[in-house]
Amino acid sequence: MADVAVIGAQWGDEGKGKVVDWLSARAEVVVRFQGGHNAGHTLVVDGEVYKLSLLPSGIVREGKMSVIGNGVVVDPWALAEEIARLQKQGVSISPVNLVIAENAALILPLHGELDALREAAAGDGKIGTTKRGIGPAYEDKIGRRAIRLIDLAHPGSLKEKVEKLLTHHNALRRGLGEQEITPDELVAKLKEVTPKVLPFAGPVWKLLHDARKAGKRILYEGAQGVLLDVDHGTYPYVTSSNVVAGQAAAGTGLGPKTSGYVLGIVKAYTTRVGEGPFPTEDHGEHGQILGERGREFGTVTGRKRRCGWFDAVLVRQSLKISGVDGIALTKLDVLDGLPELKVCVGYDLDGKQLDHFPAGMDAQSQVKPVYETIPGWRDSTEGARSWADLPAEAVKYVRRLEELIECPVALVSTSPEREDVILMRDPYES
Ligand code: IMP
Repeated sequence: MADVAVIGAQWGDEGKGKVVDWLSARAEVVVRFQGGHNAGHTLVVDGEVYKLSLLPSGIVREGKMSVIGNGVVVDPWALAEEIARLQKQGVSISPVNLVIAENAALILPLHGELDALREAAAGDGKIGTTKRGIGPAYEDKIGRRAIRLIDLAHPGSLKEKVEKLLTHHNALRRGLGEQEITPDELVAKLKEVTPKVLPFAGPVWKLLHDARKAGKRILYEGAQGVLLDVDHGTYPYVTSSNVVAGQAAAGTGLGPKTSGYVLGIVKAYTTRVGEGPFPTEDHGEHGQILGERGREFGTVTGRKRRCGWFDAVLVRQSLKISGVDGIALTKLDVLDGLPELKVCVGYDLDGKQLDHFPAGMDAQSQVKPVYETIPGWRDSTEGARSWADLPAEAVKYVRRLEELIECPVALVSTSPEREDVILMRDPYES
């Protein structure tokens, strides 16, 4: 039985939460492998609304093991707050069902401050980050000066590590006109939060190897989307981690054969939050309709998402880069009632036709989409659970997307409700 990795194939917000939740019923272990609390999704279970940012989706299902891998950057205060909030809602969270990689790097308050200061200083050139400190925390990890979860277990050497980190950060803070931080104040804050998070620390790589040996099904839960990947995305308007499925291996310690099936989550149109190129963005009536019907506001920051038509060129590229085996198409119902739909099938760059998205930032912002127009459908697709429930034009739209993106549809999600899914191929049975 293959394990499944779920990744977003656009700029995030594809509706991964619902699909991961649906798949987690079939898995015993759910693992996050990159990103941090910049991610956010809402789960509705038996009418109760759960908002998750850092915790894997499996946490709301009893009997599942939730794991945060080493590829994730962990804000211990945000984590403690999220745990407490969910516990208040009746979710049981203890070291029995939540394990966090002891070698995960921490996000500290100074990271969030630096993120916000840089964004403010950049003016119009800002990235549009979530200001959660994700980028600065990954910088410290790669710069080999990060404080890691396991460091909290060794208070004797913690101060020395904090001093080394602050040599770097205080120089930056002085340059930005900010007050310096003393090692003692940061160490005191870390000691205070330690009892809330350290009990969850463990050797995740080992736990996952043991789980696999015991025949347990593992679900890898990606955050963000391939177009925000630090290598393959619309650089520099990206997040600071690799979000492609390959990161499931490095971000957990399970080796390159980690997942047998990679499921890409693809929204039936396109959205983006934050700055950066977006060839099919629609500033007019259609963009507004998609935003309103799709309730396109950020879960973490509440920002209005930019909206536009489906871009088959970008999605095809994302799926290939991430080795996707099949897609889950989401939010098809948002297109209900539109007389015709446009799909980007290529780009024009200074009169030259392109069948892929160029890597350079200038070219990325200059390409003009070449559209194909597809007839829309009048009837509702909301809540459909079989192909037979879909209008013929909706089926044709999905089939045309499959051709253009060169990847089969494994399932279609037709509403936010957990069971409103048309299943073509069960990823766990493939
Ligand atoms: P950061 O991850 O906070 O550094 O933000 C970098 C870029 O990624 C910004 O454009 C954010 O809007 C975007 N981003 C980060 N996390 C998410 C997400 O979960 N969904 C959608 N966009 C995200």
